[in-house]
Amino acid sequence: MPQKIVAGNWKMNGTQASLSEIQAIAETTQDIHCSAILCPPAHLLHSAARLPGQLAIGGQNCHHAPSGAFTGDISAEQLADCGAFYVIVGHSERREGYSESDSLVRAKAQAALKSGLTPIICLGESQEQRAAGKALEIVLAQLSGSLPDDPQVIIAYEPIWAIGTGLVPSVAEITEVHDALRTQLYTIFGAAGQDISILYGGSVKPSNAQEIFAITHVNGALVGGASLKAEDFLPIMRSLAES
Ligand code: 13P
Repeated sequence: MPQKIVAGNWKMNGTQASLSEIQAIAETTQDIHCSAILCPPAHLLHSAARLPGQLAIGGQNCHHAPSGAFTGDISAEQLADCGAFYVIVGHSERREGYSESDSLVRAKAQAALKSGLTPIICLGESQEQRAAGKALEIVLAQLSGSLPDDPQVIIAYEPIWAIGTGLVPSVAEITEVHDALRTQLYTIFGAAGQDISILYGGSVKPSNAQEIFAITHVNGALVGGASLKAEDFLPIMRSLAES
């Protein structure tokens, strides 16, 4: 059975003062029956990982090399050294903003696994690709190109047009993509592919979480804006626990 997971991606938001918000999340997660992961910006990782509670910490990106002359980058090993257990790879903001290809995302996922981190591999089509009827084709190609050899991964389907816009795909659209991802994971990994959690991401809020979590093969969410406040993040976790 895939694990139920709510992961928060803080992106480039937050300062030391935000640790109190992470603490509020960490203190409450142990009372909610689903896994919670928070990916704060890199400078908060070390402190966030030391807060008491059941909140696992993840990075938002890593370099594919273990170390070396890569100014401004962080390796998977360094994330693990901060106390992280997860790392987001292939977020559309990196695929688009830094021209990250499927093969680079795959190399990052392999590097994460090598350092003992579970990669959260993001996939998703643009508005133009969906309008052209190519959403499924694009997302499945990203999956095959980005997956490492090992099934110890989490997948996040995040349609680019739904990120930070308040737009959410219909239940039928999410169902179609998640069903296809599950089938392809089974084809690639066999039975182990059935246990991989597939998260939905893109404008998930307390108000729409219940409807999204009722969809077959949606095993949780990757949350941006609504992960910044405990008062928004915790109700999303509760919706998943009750689903
Ligand atoms: P929002 O929840 O703000 O739409 O962001 C989603 C996201 O990009 C998470 O990685």
